[in-house]
Amino acid sequence: MLLSIESSCDDSSIAITDIETKKLIFHEKITQNEHSDFGGVIPELASRLHAKDLPNILANCKEFFPKLKAIGVTSSPGLSVTLLEGIMMAETLSAILEIPLIKINHLHAHIFSLFIEKDSVLPSSALLISGGHTAIFEAFSYNDIRLIASSGDDSFGESFDKVSKMMGLGYPGGPIIEKLAKKGDEDKYKFSIPLLQKKDISFSYSGLKNATRLAIEKNENDKENISASFQKIATAHLLRECKKYFQRNEVSNFMVVGGASANLYMRDKFTTLCAEFNVKIQFPKLEFCSDNGAMVGRLAIEYFKDMNE
Ligand code: KG4
Ligand code: ZN
Repeated sequence: MLLSIESSCDDSSIAITDIETKKLIFHEKITQNEHSDFGGVIPELASRLHAKDLPNILANCKEFFPKLKAIGVTSSPGLSVTLLEGIMMAETLSAILEIPLIKINHLHAHIFSLFIEKDSVLPSSALLISGGHTAIFEAFSYNDIRLIASSGDDSFGESFDKVSKMMGLGYPGGPIIEKLAKKGDEDKYKFSIPLLQKKDISFSYSGLKNATRLAIEKNENDKENISASFQKIATAHLLRECKKYFQRNEVSNFMVVGGASANLYMRDKFTTLCAEFNVKIQFPKLEFCSDNGAMVGRLAIEYFKDMNE
């Protein structure tokens, strides 16, 4: 079995996965709600909460320690003070149990969230939409994952967080805005799609964020319509850039991963776009969209198998 740890942001999570069958034996996650009032994650607070929560989760799976063959841990990218909490725990376990430590890239782990309890099917292209990133990758194998395009400023998830904060609502903003948007008129505010003039494929959310800020300042109480209009254009930008990508490349498999891939409005639009281009689309199970230890473990298994062949 392989034990994996995730602490790159505000989720403390540990998983234990059976290396041969890829079945999850144990998976626990504590999401830090303490940041809600601040409209974003406070690194110092997050770090202290990981220091409290990770050992508590670890205590719940100690019966499996004798069966462990390796430890996987998210090592980058993320908040340095919170990553360190997981890395410290992983280094300690690896030293005491005398088993190898496998350091995992958080973004690549999100791609492997699709293969939890399954065999991996690659190559595939992937759109990662999270709080920290908006990017297209091409994954050829577990250790050959290439960055194709990314955001020059804010990320998709982050723009939901900021819009929620500007309306005086909580963190994370994604689920809050998506819920409000369901009751709103998405055509009430005419925001423009970012980077319309640009030929190359890239993402930008700071302009849309500022346009939404102006709408909020003028129409404070129109939260549902503002949310719906913002979500429509935020998603239209993803769709437009991915459409360019499909037009210019031979794409057969596509996945949308990362915390914001839980957004059902976006899922629906991407399902339609991919059908048009005859591209097979996949999304992670809802429970594996946001940061979790299981996806870290699933990718670490690939590294472990390679080391032991
Ligand atoms: O992958 P993740 O858990 O953490 C990072 O690696 O950043 O992603 C968290 C992000 C937050 O910005 C959150 O607001 C966003 O994902 N998110 C959503 C939704 N659920 C979570 N964004 C839009 N719609 C959602 N339903
Ligand atoms: Zn993430």
